[in-house]
Amino acid sequence: MRTVGDDLTWHYGTVTREEREFQLGQLAITVWLTGLSGSGKSSIACALEKKLTAQGKKCFVLDGDNVRHGLNKDLGFSLPERSENIRRIAEVTKLMNDAGLIVIVAIISPMIEDRALASEIIGSDCFHEIFVSTPLSICEERDPKGLYRKARSESLENFTGVSSPYEHPMAPALVVDNSKVSVEDNAKTIVRYLEGLRVSSLGRVASR
Ligand code: ADX
Repeated sequence: MRTVGDDLTWHYGTVTREEREFQLGQLAITVWLTGLSGSGKSSIACALEKKLTAQGKKCFVLDGDNVRHGLNKDLGFSLPERSENIRRIAEVTKLMNDAGLIVIVAIISPMIEDRALASEIIGSDCFHEIFVSTPLSICEERDPKGLYRKARSESLENFTGVSSPYEHPMAPALVVDNSKVSVEDNAKTIVRYLEGLRVSSLGRVASR
């Protein structure tokens, strides 16, 4: 099998990521929302996108369900397929970060190892893992897509939290629980967290 590096050479562009970030007036970071199905990831991602856009930021949501309609439509829900799903999303995220965009990823990404690979691909300095910690019992009670019911009746296999594992993040940048706090307030908490980055280790843009 041909491997990367055998016949390929990276072609460097003439416009750097830093130039693009400067032009857009933002750091091209990734907000990676992980949590169970029905935990509120997509709702929080969209509320966050709206708030950042209102502030003039250029951002985009990559939602697991949506990406599985196209790029990843060939993948199912076995653990190896989820790994591939996450790897591809991480690669797309990296390209979008390179274009200067803030990327908000909303995918279950149940395994620690896969999220670690995503962080490695994207770059740990701009990867911000946020755990949407809404408990399984609440996600199941809400069951917005009727999938927990199907999983319990065994008409849906490998369902996260029921018949497939979810590994809690060990040291997420932030934890938001969507059963105790509204989507709006969780999005506000994330905005505050991101604003904090501008004056700390990631203050490159703020200091320009
Ligand atoms: S991941 O595990 O590979 O990160 P991803 O976030 O892309 O999952 O997709 C999860 C979405 O697919 C859920 O929101 C749900 O709507 C749908 N889905 C369908 N089957 C399953 C399943 N077996 N486990 C989890 N989610 C499923």
